[in-house]
Amino acid sequence: MARELSQVGVVGLGTMGAGITEVLARAGLDVTAVEVSAEALGRGRGHLEQSTEKAVQRGKLDAADREALLARVRWSTSLDDLAEAELVVEAIPERMELKTEVFARLDKICPPDTILATNTSSLSVTELSVATGRPSKVIGMHFFNPAPVMKLVEVISTVVTEPSVIADVEALAERLGKTDVTVGDKAGFIANALLFGYLNHAVSMYEAKYASREDIDAAMRLGCGLPMGPLALMDLIGIDTAYEILDTMYRQSRDRLHAPSPIIKQLMTAGLLGRKTGRGFYTYAGRDSAEVVPDALTPTPGGAAEGARPVQKVGLVGSGTMATGMVEVFAKAGYDTVVVARSPEKVDGVLAAVARSLDKQITRGRLDEDGKAAVLARLTGTTDRADLADVDLVVEAVVESLEVKQELFAELGRVCKPGAVLATTTSSLPVIECAQASGRPGDVVGLHFFNPATVMKLVEVVSTVATADDVAATAHAVCGRLGKHAVSCTDRSGFIVNALLFPYLNDAVRMLQAHYATADDIDAAMKVGCGYPMGPFELLDTVGLDVSLAIERELYTEFREPGFAPAPLLEHLVTAGYLGRKTGRGFREHVRR
Ligand code: CAA
Repeated sequence: MARELSQVGVVGLGTMGAGITEVLARAGLDVTAVEVSAEALGRGRGHLEQSTEKAVQRGKLDAADREALLARVRWSTSLDDLAEAELVVEAIPERMELKTEVFARLDKICPPDTILATNTSSLSVTELSVATGRPSKVIGMHFFNPAPVMKLVEVISTVVTEPSVIADVEALAERLGKTDVTVGDKAGFIANALLFGYLNHAVSMYEAKYASREDIDAAMRLGCGLPMGPLALMDLIGIDTAYEILDTMYRQSRDRLHAPSPIIKQLMTAGLLGRKTGRGFYTYAGRDSAEVVPDALTPTPGGAAEGARPVQKVGLVGSGTMATGMVEVFAKAGYDTVVVARSPEKVDGVLAAVARSLDKQITRGRLDEDGKAAVLARLTGTTDRADLADVDLVVEAVVESLEVKQELFAELGRVCKPGAVLATTTSSLPVIECAQASGRPGDVVGLHFFNPATVMKLVEVVSTVATADDVAATAHAVCGRLGKHAVSCTDRSGFIVNALLFPYLNDAVRMLQAHYATADDIDAAMKVGCGYPMGPFELLDTVGLDVSLAIERELYTEFREPGFAPAPLLEHLVTAGYLGRKTGRGFREHVRR
């Protein structure tokens, strides 16, 4: 039977410590909250008051419960006030020497059966445990930021943690309304080990000026459904904390993908620590504010579309899922749209699919018959590429074969009028190959839509070394009219989204392969700890393991980064024909539909 803890302590009242205090007090525990100085204590108290006030405003807590919650917290600047605590959670800065000192002091102050927990994100819990005379009572209890909102708690047991201590902490996590996953003591545990490789990668993309901070963040929010972009998340976590986590991970893994990108250290040294100091990658309205305010790096609205060529008539080449979705998107946005497919049947197939989709929208009350008629009136179909002679923009979504695309672009170069913009939706081939084949590389741009094109808001606008500025601007202007959010990047494998997403998915497979955690725990950690809409294994099974492997191979081939080499487990599953949902089995078994 697990102990029911009632008297607890929290040491360190920064963002995390204050949040943990809130969570504990909210669940009815008496909390002694300790900081080093009256000033730091006041700031921690302010955090708690503000956060609970927000919870009341949002209807998550009633005013009387808030008062009771605040009354359960005793504020102190002395660790001696923890002499009665049954459990203490330490949440001071991520520095081993500071933590070991606090643990050694707590060991002397607290009764022998008090559990000493650390909220460290990456430091060795085992090393902390041996700084005390009670290593078996030391455990990791890792909360996520913001602690009152994120439901995950990682429970870290070391080789010496007593099973009863694990049981007590797991029971407490449940009482706090959290989802707990229990794992061993490895830098980054589950969620940070997967998250920080990705965050560091995003930072290095920004540092290399591959894309702007706004575009990197928008790409991951809109392309993957993440609650925040990686650079905004770095600011929420705190640049100093992120640096310490990456540095610890690097020291343990020696994986250069974990070596903090230089700009992280520069920001840290300059005191630009993110939201908590009012400036990090972004600038905020003030200290601890979530409101981003414009600064010198903020792009001017509509700036990317300036100088665009006029577009009224558009040609869409292809008859697959992406082409069909895009035909609907263009025609609905008011463009005269010509569909070019390989046979009259395929042309009819696209037009019929668009009509069916519009009917569905009528049934759902989102469109009326007149609207449908207007969209269909803008659509024509043909099998003859010569009919593209008068379009202002061609977007191709034919099969992902370089040979096929090169042949198509060579013909587009011949039949399209001078000044027409030629776009490819390729997600994996170099856009410059299509550009060269066209004989007019300045007119060629990548327009990478996401599936389903009618729903996903993101479009990556890919400029090659040869793309003319007004061609990229045209792509932005058209995306604006389509109601899409365009981000700019250059012609590298994976563009923004796939280049950031697939190495993270690969890391998850490697973690599974190393038997550090189960697929269920890894999926839960990312969903509940970081608010991801799907865990990595759910996503891999949905995307298809063969497709994922192909993308990972391309990224590896382009960047020759050892950390991007596809995990052997993924290769084996693909070889075995376990491709995910589409074959009924991938990382999990699926009911065939
Ligand atoms: N108590 C209870 N609920 C609260 C609350 C409180 N004190 N404060 C806010 N909420 C609720 C709000 O009411 C809201 O719920 P509803 O939508 O139902 O109203 C929800 O929490 C979030 O509301 P916010 O207005 O605060 O903000 P948001 O909708 O803009 O979301 C966010 C903000 C939760 C931070 C979201 O962007 C998100 O999930 N981001 C990802 C965060 C993440 O990845 N965290 C992990 C970082 S890694 C880490 O922490 C580990 C480490 O070691 C560094």
